[in-house]
Amino acid sequence: MKFISQACAAALLSLAPLVAASCDYVGGNYYCSETDAVIYQNVGYSGSYQDVTSMDESSCSCSQESVSFEGSMSPLNEELSVHFRGPLELLQFGVYYPSSGNSLKKREDCDVATRHHDHKRDVAVAIVHVTSTMYVDGNGDPVASTNPSATAIYTTSSTLAPASTTTSATADDEASTSVSSSAAASSEGSSSSASVSSGSSASTSSSSASTSSTSSSGTGSGWNRVSYYTPGSANNLTFMNHQGGTAGSGTWSSCFGNSISYCAADGVSGAGSPQALDQVTVPSNKEYMIFSGVKCSDTSSGSCGYYRDDIPAYHGFGGDTKMFVFEFSMPHDDSSSYNGDMPAIWMLNAKIPRTLQYGNSDCSCWGTGCGELDLFEILSSGSEKLITHLHDGQGDNGNSQGGGGTQDYFERPTSGTLKAAVIFDGSDQTLHVVKVDGDFSSTLSASTVNKWLKESASVANLS
Ligand SMILES: *[C@@H]1O[C@H](CO)[C@@H](O)[C@H](O)[C@H]1NC(C)=O
Repeated sequence: MKFISQACAAALLSLAPLVAASCDYVGGNYYCSETDAVIYQNVGYSGSYQDVTSMDESSCSCSQESVSFEGSMSPLNEELSVHFRGPLELLQFGVYYPSSGNSLKKREDCDVATRHHDHKRDVAVAIVHVTSTMYVDGNGDPVASTNPSATAIYTTSSTLAPASTTTSATADDEASTSVSSSAAASSEGSSSSASVSSGSSASTSSSSASTSSTSSSGTGSGWNRVSYYTPGSANNLTFMNHQGGTAGSGTWSSCFGNSISYCAADGVSGAGSPQALDQVTVPSNKEYMIFSGVKCSDTSSGSCGYYRDDIPAYHGFGGDTKMFVFEFSMPHDDSSSYNGDMPAIWMLNAKIPRTLQYGNSDCSCWGTGCGELDLFEILSSGSEKLITHLHDGQGDNGNSQGGGGTQDYFERPTSGTLKAAVIFDGSDQTLHVVKVDGDFSSTLSASTVNKWLKESASVANLS
């Protein structure tokens, strides 16, 4: 399996310079082809990050200790919180787990010999093989991370990256140092090395789906929805924002500012108790986030670890196999202020917002790579191209601000909505971000989810 998969990645990577040649360079980032799916392969590694162990109000500093992790999807198999920034209207959000054991069908993503031309619409897929971070320019040629046009990608392809991996790792130390001082655990697109990324992806406008598989669909085990939101109704999840100390939940201090708090139904104000978000379009630069419905005081699913005193503390969504579904709109607003007209949806290691999402970098595990996954992010004001990018230490000598992604983009839904599934498949270390059709019902059959996986794995168009 792995061998096939890597051979496939190499074949795709050899296309990258061709693809990149048609990319646009806008506001410090490259954009190549519109895509319907992005697959991260080989997600997870053995590493460590600095976990916060205390926050000291008298010195305005925090203590940390090293925590190590390993295994499929790590550290993104840890609990995640889900973050939203306007202008954005959320119509549906759900979280699913396999109903019994791991029902995911084994696939051979790259069996290009077996093509079935049974799709009405062309499906474009970008593959990101998560191995070592390197930097390329818009032609897909390796450059130092300090090069103004450098963007971070993941690859080990001998086609693209032969000796330069060492070079870029060294350069990356410098870039990482300069970035970590800002310690803003959001998705800041155009900050130096955090910019997004290219080349290792080959977008293949495909009219076919690779359908070879060793199907286990006979077992019939599906997925159960454990958390679900539609406007006005929040089931087993908790809306939060950063209004601590203003409206009856959370706290404020001169050291650490506003903590997280319950989010009011308007998506902007704080609240004293959990609220279901109304059908609202939150404006530019306003953020809210979603945790599970389970308080940290419930340790039956494990510990939340250390978190800031006096916050409403909830578990995130853990596990190496899990699925998130979204339906949202990102209409333009005319804001030209900070983060104006730059909507985003991203995930963080849930420890980050429970300590300090924005501020002193010692007070969050973000800067040392506990994990961020940008799902749908606008990187420059007014753009209609949504980028995905993984930030952790994998392939990056333990630094976290490199990471990798793809320069291919999802189209921003400025009037209609975009429905998408984000599938963490711990069985084969893949992470799929894929546009989908269909209902997000309380159970989803294995065949429905396998179809989404298969569509996103349709890398067949190599001819
Ligand atoms: C709520 O969500 C958690 C996971 O976050 C799950 O373990 C639990 O079973 C869910 N509760 C209900 C009633 O669905």
